[in-house]
Amino acid sequence: MTRRELIERFGGWFPGSTVEGKAEKMRVTAEQRPDQVVSLQTFPEINQTGELNMCGIIGCTGSFDTAKVLLRGLSKLEYRGYDSAGIAVLCENEIKVIKCKGRLLNLAALVEEKNPGNCSVGIGHTRWATHGEPNDINSHPHVSGKGKFCVVHNGIIENYMDIRENLRSAGYSFVSETDSEVIAHLLEYNYKGDTVSCLRETVMQLEGSYALGVLDRDEPKKIFTARKDSPLILGLTDKGGIIASDIPAMLEYTRDIFIAEDGEIASVSDDAIIFYNQLGLEIDKKTTHVDWEAGSAEKGGFEHFMLKEIHEEPTAIRDTIANDAFDRMNIVKPDRMHIIACGTAYHAGVVGKYVIEEMAGIPVEVEVASEYRYKNPIVGKNHLTVVISQSGETIDTLFAMRKAKEMGSRVIAVVNVVGSSIAREADDVFYTRAGPEIAVASTKAYSTQLTAMYMLASKLSEGKLKLDGLRRIPDMIKGILSCKEDIQRFASDLFGGSSIFFIGRGLDYALSMEGSLKLKEISYIHSEAYAGGELKHGTIALIEEGTPVICSMTQPHIFSKMAGNVREIQARGAKVLSITSKSMENEAKRVSDMVISLPDIEPVYMPITAIVPMQLFAYYCAVLKGCDVDKPRNLAKSVTVE
Ligand code: AGP
Repeated sequence: MTRRELIERFGGWFPGSTVEGKAEKMRVTAEQRPDQVVSLQTFPEINQTGELNMCGIIGCTGSFDTAKVLLRGLSKLEYRGYDSAGIAVLCENEIKVIKCKGRLLNLAALVEEKNPGNCSVGIGHTRWATHGEPNDINSHPHVSGKGKFCVVHNGIIENYMDIRENLRSAGYSFVSETDSEVIAHLLEYNYKGDTVSCLRETVMQLEGSYALGVLDRDEPKKIFTARKDSPLILGLTDKGGIIASDIPAMLEYTRDIFIAEDGEIASVSDDAIIFYNQLGLEIDKKTTHVDWEAGSAEKGGFEHFMLKEIHEEPTAIRDTIANDAFDRMNIVKPDRMHIIACGTAYHAGVVGKYVIEEMAGIPVEVEVASEYRYKNPIVGKNHLTVVISQSGETIDTLFAMRKAKEMGSRVIAVVNVVGSSIAREADDVFYTRAGPEIAVASTKAYSTQLTAMYMLASKLSEGKLKLDGLRRIPDMIKGILSCKEDIQRFASDLFGGSSIFFIGRGLDYALSMEGSLKLKEISYIHSEAYAGGELKHGTIALIEEGTPVICSMTQPHIFSKMAGNVREIQARGAKVLSITSKSMENEAKRVSDMVISLPDIEPVYMPITAIVPMQLFAYYCAVLKGCDVDKPRNLAKSVTVE
């Protein structure tokens, strides 16, 4: 079957795949394979508990074309990264599992070949291997020994070895190397006539994180779910119930979603979703409305999500400026602040520090969340903590936030995903309005995080920072985007370098950190960001004939100092690409091989325009190198394990 035919049949998009590999449809029987040793060699760069979690879950029950909905839902979760995929459908009291290593296109071909028939309930999964190599057997769904239960799982079961040993003593044997398979067997072991009670008892025995979708062979119209520290959403439509691990998979069916909380169990049927708390008592839950457009989770004619998302920055910034949440918050000017985040969100926090200290005169410490959570932070009485996260599910940021709260700090969260864990647990939340960010490399989310930092600085400085300049940014970015071919040309000049340095001072240094991260994460070119004045204390030894250096020179008050630093590296052979503003362009040309000149605006706002050429530069370098731009190796969009 051709790619086109598959797309027509299933209506999804299956980017960049060819039909290859094979897998088998597995009828559920009690027959088991001999146990295997858990391979920890699969991804040697990832530690044994798994640093990343990229899996995706979809499930539906009702009058859907089940296999089609599952495959389409999985295609919307592809961006999370995966190395195998599978579905299970329940027809006439028989669970049929179809799963295989590799791309969704392989799975779609297999589903077409095996034709599981008209089934009204099913679950699907994209797996990114942590326990056991990516192969057909380790793919989800997993089934219990006698075939009663079938499970898809996101997260990590930390005590799976102990559970496995206990179940083995009770006569169970295991097919896969995964931690997840124990859940299916444990369900069967615990079953005493009621599925919800059985699921409740089972999750009480699990340590770690999980979002679960469960089929019970003897409940032919239901999906059961449970969650702890891994996102899960549920929705009810005219056609029936849907579950998913992420919003893009749900958007097509409903925007009014139930967000499962830790400890909650749900029974999903075609006309109702019943939630139970940890005591097994039924609870009422309200839906949350998601106003993301369904189309915003699609590529819309762009070659990659990343490029599309860079082009969405003007809209995302404008939408974020329209959020008046800070105005509605009663914020007493704090004595000190902590900003806590990871990766790109951390870099937005570094810009926030410069701007808040400068404009509001409040001392700000920016902390990497994974460091903060294991130290003893000093939190004073009138202390404010701000956490920043696109996904709202980054586990280090979530736990750092909990720590700050325990220490008595008020916490404001700046979050993109509505209803995410961080958003729900913070004292106050400011939603950036970037819409769904699909590419692993964060672009429009960063721009909206910067927007939020400016808005917070304006609030804390009681209007000393005027937001008029910020309102002009979206049009300026549109102008920069219209010159993207120039940046593409610069990228083709420099992408061959084995190492590219980014230097800047003050806000330009904060910006350089993000420019450098963007480049390395998608193009795999080694890169470092340095404060301009720091280079000569060691790193300048690495500069030799032709070494590419990207210099941010957007701050007039330190321009001459930066120009001095640039001369130092040019004298040692560096090939310099400078990013500056129109009014400083001529001076920048004197010390640079290439110059990107941006529209003039108040210097404090330069990072939010200057990041755009850096994002495009990284993008074009990655494309020129033939890298998988939207799904770079070893990375996850949402890092939901430690
Ligand atoms: C950025 O391109 C990365 N994908 C990564 O650094 C990311 O910003 C980080 O993992 C934090 O994610 P969050 O904003 O969802 O918390």
